[in-house]
This record gives sequence, structure tokens and C-alpha cells, in this order.
Amino acid sequence: MPLEIRGQRRMHTHMPERAPDQAAGLRRMAGLSRPVKVIAVASGKGGVGKTSVSINLAVTMAQQNRKIMLLDADLGLANVDVLLGINARRNLSHVISGEATLEEVIVQGPAGLRIVPSSSGTKNMLNLSTAEQGGLIRAFSELQDDVEVMLVDIAAGISESVITFTRAAHEVVVVVCDEPASLTDAYALIKVLNRDHGIDRFHILANMTGNAHEGKALFDKLARVSQRFLDVTLGYMGAVPYDDYLRKAVQRQLAVVEAYPRSRSALAFRKMADRTDRWPPPQVATGRLEFFVERLIRSGGGAGEYLS
Ligand SMILES: Nc1ncnc2c1ncn2[C@@H]1O[C@H](COP(=O)(O)OP(=O)(O)OP(=O)(O)O)[C@@H](O)[C@H]1O
Ligand SMILES: [Mg+2]
Repeated sequence: MPLEIRGQRRMHTHMPERAPDQAAGLRRMAGLSRPVKVIAVASGKGGVGKTSVSINLAVTMAQQNRKIMLLDADLGLANVDVLLGINARRNLSHVISGEATLEEVIVQGPAGLRIVPSSSGTKNMLNLSTAEQGGLIRAFSELQDDVEVMLVDIAAGISESVITFTRAAHEVVVVVCDEPASLTDAYALIKVLNRDHGIDRFHILANMTGNAHEGKALFDKLARVSQRFLDVTLGYMGAVPYDDYLRKAVQRQLAVVEAYPRSRSALAFRKMADRTDRWPPPQVATGRLEFFVERLIRSGGGAGEYLS
């Protein structure tokens, strides 16, 4: 049976501003940094709403005073900055080439969200020199205590970089919508990630749904075939309705949760952020950001072990 993952533990409580920082300092001194949860947002087909989902989940979590980072990993058509009206002068490629530090390329988004912009010129993570790899690992490790959750907006399709980023994440969200190509492409992605890369847990998010039942029906369809042919557990993350307010927000280059917080889509994003919060935290051993980068760089090795 497809299972909905209902972890009981809540990792983050709303503590006063200063408490987490003091705690972070102590943890750092003791060499015990809090694990960072890395969530990749994927889809088979393009244009189904990955970037909208990544942005709105990230802004919602940031609005809850949490330390959230959004990594734009759509190396072909980076568009987190476009959707949020941010004019990023520098991006991840400048960190890789050593021209800028990660702190220098991070831009502030709504509600204190921190964004690492990307660009079409950013090198594939698998093609970095040893020096570039080392620089990137160091850059991310220094952010460890400033991030609780890192959302990664990845490209559509099943390119090498899509596989790299999903393999390096702790949780993979697959966005689908009610179009035959969206479902078949999502299935193709899940199949490759499962069969060839050992990823066995996916969260399915239905976007642009027309009514209350459509999302669950889409999930059931995908779960049925996946269960039959693959060794995977799919969880239903919920649905975001088709919402003109989301389109209006895109036109205004704002997140809908910020521009129209009472819209139907904003409500759905808030529910989803709460659910995401209940996913079990990553194990400390896999929760360090430099390990995330290491997994990116060395994604040719054994598969899936970090998902356990
Ligand atoms: N729930 C929704 N209701 C209405 N429109 C939506 C919704 N979600 C996304 N859209 C519209 O679809 C467009 C494409 O969304 P988005 O850019 O988030 O998709 P994507 O999967 O990231 O695309 P790409 O594959 O090109 O990266 C958005 O500009 C927005 O106008
Ligand atoms: Mg996108």
C-alpha cells in the first residue's frame, strides 16, 4: 500500500529568536551541528510548477521564523530570481570558480528567506575540478548553523544534474498536474531514480488541480503503477488548486503566500509546509551541508543510502 508518511516528531519548535543562536553556538563548539534537511523539488514534465512550489514552501517556512535556504538548481533555466523579481549579479557559478563566497552570492528573499541563485552557465556538479569541489564543500559547510531546511528547485526531465541533485537530497518531492504527459514523465523519473539510483521514497504533490478530489486521484494513479512495477513508497503531499492569484503573484514577481496570503493556493502551501515539518529529521551523519555537496559531487557511487 502506498503509505502516507506521518512522522510524529516535530523537529522545530518556535523558540525565541536568541535561543537557537545560542544553541547553535554550543553545538558548533561541541562539533554537533543540527542536521539540515534537504528537500529536492522535481517533476518529469516542465512547467508544472516546481519553481512556484519551491518558492512558496520556502517563503511559508521562512515566515515561521525558520532558517530556510532555497537553492536554484535549475542550471538550464534558472528562474527563482525571475519569479521573485530579484536581480542577482552573482550566482553559484561564481562560488565554484572562486570569484565570490557563498555569502556574497546569497540574496535575501521575502521573510528572510535566503536564496542561492544559479545561472545557465553553472557547471555540472560532476565536472568540477578537485579545487572547485573543495571550495564548494567549504562554502556550504560554513552555512551549517544558518540553515534548517534547504529546498532545491531542480530542472525538469531526467538529466544528469536532476539525478545528481535528487540523489543528494533527503526527501524528493515530485510535482504533477492533471495532464497525461505529466504523469507519464513523473513515472519515468521515479523509475530511473528508483531502479538506477536506489531512491525509494517520494512525496507526490498535485498542482493546478481543478477540484478537491483531483489531486488524490492523480496520486492514486501514480501510486498504483509505481507499486506494481517498482520498489517505492509514495506519500501524498496534498494538492495546490489552480489559482488565478498565483498567476497574479507571478506577474507581480511575488510569492503568492506573501502577496495573497488568504488565497486558496497560499492556504494549500501553508498546509504542506506543516506536513513537511512532520517528516522525520535526517540523521545527524547525513545532515551536514558539506555532505550534501559531497553527495552532489560524488553521485557516481552507491545509491540511496542517505535516504535511510
Ligand atoms: N497552482 C497554480 N495555479 C495557477 N497557475 C500556476 C499554478 N502553479 C503554477 N502556475 C503557473 O504555471 C507557470 C509555470 O510554473 P513554474 O515556473 O513554477 O513551473 P516549473 O515546473 O518550475 O517550470 P520549468 O520546468 O520551466 O522550470 C507559472 O508561471 C504560473 O503562472
Ligand atoms: Mg522552474
